[in-house]
Amino acid sequence: MKEEIKVKRLIAEEEIKKRVKELAKEISSDYKNSVPVLVGILKGSWVFFADLVREMKIPVICDFISIASYGKKTKSSGRIKLEKGLREKVKGKEIIIIEDIIDTGLSLKYLLQYLKRKKPKSIAICALLDKEERREVKIPVKYVGFKVPNKFIVGYGIDYAERFRYLPYIGYIERE
Ligand code: IMP
Ligand code: MG
Repeated sequence: MKEEIKVKRLIAEEEIKKRVKELAKEISSDYKNSVPVLVGILKGSWVFFADLVREMKIPVICDFISIASYGKKTKSSGRIKLEKGLREKVKGKEIIIIEDIIDTGLSLKYLLQYLKRKKPKSIAICALLDKEERREVKIPVKYVGFKVPNKFIVGYGIDYAERFRYLPYIGYIERE
């Protein structure tokens, strides 16, 4: 089936690959004396997560969380529900949240509260993309792949109504 919505390229496949490798190197060095728990936020982060894990130089534990936010059209409602929690025990462990894109920051604010209740030793955030301009709450992000403009981003796991996740590059929806 042909996609009729136009996607404009923003970040090429090779550029993503290079940056993911750099992020993995930096994280591996920062956590060289521990086995961090990488927590991927479903579904958007799954492609990034898989590529990042395979570039890591240290052992890691992998787990996933799924959240849903209501009433979200173009603006985040901030009303978030946990659809799938952690399976791993993280008490006393070092957590790194792996997120696809930070927009308002409301999802991560909710997730930080949820994860803090599990009493981990530490929590850091790694986001492939940061739409800084749209931030509504202050979130400490330790690792950022790329800053992106205020556009609707798709590709490399990130969707528009479940579409475009399969694109190997990162782009945005072009509006007429
Ligand atoms: P936030 O709570 O507003 O920071 O939104 C974060 C979540 O909204 C991300 O994890 C994405 O799943 C989704 N999201 C935000 N911006 C975009 C976008 O441009 N394209 C696709 N999904 C997005
Ligand atoms: Mg997401």
